[in-house]
Amino acid sequence: MFSSLVVYSLLAIKICTVGAFPAYQSLAGLTREELDAVVRTLQYDPPPPPPGPLANDSAILVNDADHPYMSLQPGDQRGPCPALNTLASHGYLPRNGIVTPVQIVNAVQEGFNLENSFARFLVYSTFLVNGNPITNLMSIGDATSATGQNPPAPATVAGLDTHNNCEGDTSMTRADFYFGDNHSFNETRFQNFVTFSNEYGGGKFNLTAATELRHFLFQDSLLNNPTFSMVSPRLFTAYGESVFPINFFIDGRDTSGQLDLDVARSFFQNMTFPTDFYRRNGAISNEGYETVFNAYPIVPGANQGTVNSYKYDPTSATLSEPCKRYTTFVLRNIQSLYPNPTGNLREALNINLQYLFDATVAAGENCTQVFPYGQ
Ligand code: HEM
Ligand SMILES: *[C@@H]1O[C@H](CO)[C@@H](O)[C@H](O)[C@H]1NC(C)=O
Ligand SMILES: *[C@@H]1O[C@H](CO)[C@@H](O)[C@H](O)[C@H]1NC(C)=O
Ligand SMILES: *[C@@H]1O[C@H](CO)[C@@H](O)[C@H](O)[C@H]1NC(C)=O
Ligand SMILES: *[C@@H]1O[C@H](CO)[C@@H](O)[C@H](O)[C@H]1NC(C)=O
Ligand SMILES: *[C@@H]1O[C@H](CO)[C@@H](O)[C@H](O)[C@H]1NC(C)=O
Ligand SMILES: *[C@@H]1O[C@H](CO)[C@@H](O)[C@H](O)[C@H]1NC(C)=O
Repeated sequence: MFSSLVVYSLLAIKICTVGAFPAYQSLAGLTREELDAVVRTLQYDPPPPPPGPLANDSAILVNDADHPYMSLQPGDQRGPCPALNTLASHGYLPRNGIVTPVQIVNAVQEGFNLENSFARFLVYSTFLVNGNPITNLMSIGDATSATGQNPPAPATVAGLDTHNNCEGDTSMTRADFYFGDNHSFNETRFQNFVTFSNEYGGGKFNLTAATELRHFLFQDSLLNNPTFSMVSPRLFTAYGESVFPINFFIDGRDTSGQLDLDVARSFFQNMTFPTDFYRRNGAISNEGYETVFNAYPIVPGANQGTVNSYKYDPTSATLSEPCKRYTTFVLRNIQSLYPNPTGNLREALNINLQYLFDATVAAGENCTQVFPYGQ
């Protein structure tokens, strides 16, 4: 009985453009055979390989006539990442916020000059836990039917808002999930950003302010959030994001390392490139994060259900263990969402896992590849 309904909506996915089909149904409750049948019939788009580095990574005008800001339409997705939000609002990404991995790599390179291997690792790790491997689509915000019929649970395909996959605690301008909305701009938190910039950056957000703000945010979550967690992968993204505003939100013609607070607000809140904005001159990734970390080193861990009960988690990679980060991410985070994939789903996961591993090779990390779903 399920077949006519499901097949109808699957056909709709094939025929209609994104967003035009009815809300997706959960596939929970189907037998294994039924699930396999569904997965076989989902529109399958084998994921194409990611692009290489920019041919010319010099500073250029990116808020240009071809990429005007346009305000949101109903249903457009925006989420916790100010950079991806901005790229979507200027058309470097599809304006509805429903994106493919290749589109993100291209957009973060063209719009911000993010270094290629770093972009690829970030994109494939995020996509594998928050995107739909069959349709090759991911929401940069909330879960939505626009990414197609979901693969079977426990896969979530819930977009970038999903807590603890990549989104996590101690964001600069988004609240911890425990405190409230974990993906929208939060003025209270931005005011901390302003205060620390005034106190430690002479009115600008610089590496000194970033360092002190990160320490404050850690202490704030430690002392106020009983569910506070700071383990890989969040450990890596938290320290990277501390320096991203300095590395990417400062106009490419300005090498001072001091980010103006109106410019910061333009990205974090308005999702807009400032007028006449040039991207950074030369590709960069998370340079500066060691400075932030080394001032107040921490161990990976989590509160134990009460505030100020932080306990070291030896199973988490530390910032100096990129291969452990890769391995545990694949064998823990990805495998827990996809314990036993078959057919196109398994093939799509394996292709994306290969792209993830390739990114570690490109970054010179010499990790040993792991194959949760065979070779
Ligand atoms: C390459 C693909 C990228 C993906 C998949 C991605 C994804 C994310 C996600 C999921 C978060 C939320 C983490 C959290 O705070 O809980 C985030 C935050 C952030 N992202 Fe991105 N991002 C990407 C690239 C970039 C780039 C290129 C920049 C800078 C130009 C950037 C700047 C930031 C900043 C500053 C935050 C922190 C927001 C805050 O702490 O309030 N991201 N990103
Ligand atoms: C790279 O682009 C810049 C800005 O458009 C230009 O001035 C420069 O000549 C280009 N370099 C090369 C090698 O093409
Ligand atoms: C983060 O917030 C969104 C929207 O409020 C919510 O759907 C999501 O479940 C939250 N993350 C987690 C685990 O709860
Ligand atoms: C904004 O952040 C503050 C501080 O973390 C938090 O108390 C508040 O609940 C957040 N607001 C929303 C709407 O989530
Ligand atoms: C940040 O700004 C403050 C105040 O101007 C200055 O003392 C400090 O050296 C700056 N730090 C960096 C890394 O630029
Ligand atoms: C943000 O957008 C609002 C509304 O368009 C505008 O009034 C304000 O000047 C913008 N702020 C910044 C910092 O870009
Ligand atoms: C890479 O790892 C292998 C195995 O762990 C090791 O034998 C080899 O020396 C490493 N190569 C480099 C360049 O670090």
